[in-house]
Amino acid sequence: MKTLEWEDNKLKLIDQTKLPDELTYVYCENYQDVIIAIKDMIVRGAPAIGVSAAFGMALADIEGVDLNKAALEIKTARPTAVNLFWAVDRVLNSDDALTEALRMYEEDMATNRAIGKFGSEIIDDGDTVLTHCNAGALACVDYGTALGVFRAAHEQGKNINVICDETRPRGQGASLSVWEMQQENIPVKLIPDVASGFLMSQGKIDKVVIGADRIARGGVVNKVGSFMVALAAKHHDIPFYVAAPYSTFDNDISIFDTVIEERDGDEVRYYGGARICPKNTEVINPAFDITPKELITGIITEKGIIDPI
Ligand code: MRU
Repeated sequence: MKTLEWEDNKLKLIDQTKLPDELTYVYCENYQDVIIAIKDMIVRGAPAIGVSAAFGMALADIEGVDLNKAALEIKTARPTAVNLFWAVDRVLNSDDALTEALRMYEEDMATNRAIGKFGSEIIDDGDTVLTHCNAGALACVDYGTALGVFRAAHEQGKNINVICDETRPRGQGASLSVWEMQQENIPVKLIPDVASGFLMSQGKIDKVVIGADRIARGGVVNKVGSFMVALAAKHHDIPFYVAAPYSTFDNDISIFDTVIEERDGDEVRYYGGARICPKNTEVINPAFDITPKELITGIITEKGIIDPI
């Protein structure tokens, strides 16, 4: 099962807004469909957004649209994951859009396997590992970054227990990460976002591994809530790792200059379809936060484990 596939000159995406109850697909027939799919989070997660955007460029090329124009439009889909900008520019600078997109698709799978191999070295038999959001197969073409580390450890025969934060407000930990681990019979439990500090204080979490939307000078941007988990892990001396490919690195900027996406307030006002606050309550809904490098034990990349930059 792949999160995205190129099929009959269309981009086929798992509709992640329908998981965990329905495994259905959306077909993007033109590059505007890809922009909508990224905006509406039918496809989400930094590497998956990047490869989808690359196929969006390929669709624009097939449609005969000026690629510079398409690039500008695709780059407006979401602001934070650097993979989107990296992927669009890479296709723009290539000789053949579709060939380059297909190359990036293959590379993403190989990259995640390599991250899994290096990352599995930090996982011990019997570990209970915590993750936040979904940095799994669904956030990439396949296999995943943080969840790829757990998959690799599991494939090596290590007994691990995975704990997923629910990841309010959109619930990617609950609906996507738990689902992925269950598909492969990797032991998994769901916890409320607010419970990880308590579980750490009880000695019930050995390591934390999360993904990243951007890694730049000074730290890492990932799903909102990651920073609080990192603070709790530091307090309890629990190793806190970030697993991400080099396509997520943005060496040119300070992490504190990253544009953090602000999403619709209704994501917070409503829970499971029901409003949980007075009508018209003002909401602040940042989709990501910044974990400073002092809180990060190491970054697991496809070339090995490195220090944060
Ligand atoms: O808003 P999302 O669901 O796109 O956010 C995803 C994350 O924050 C992931 O942890 C990150 O993109 C890494 S995916 C390998």
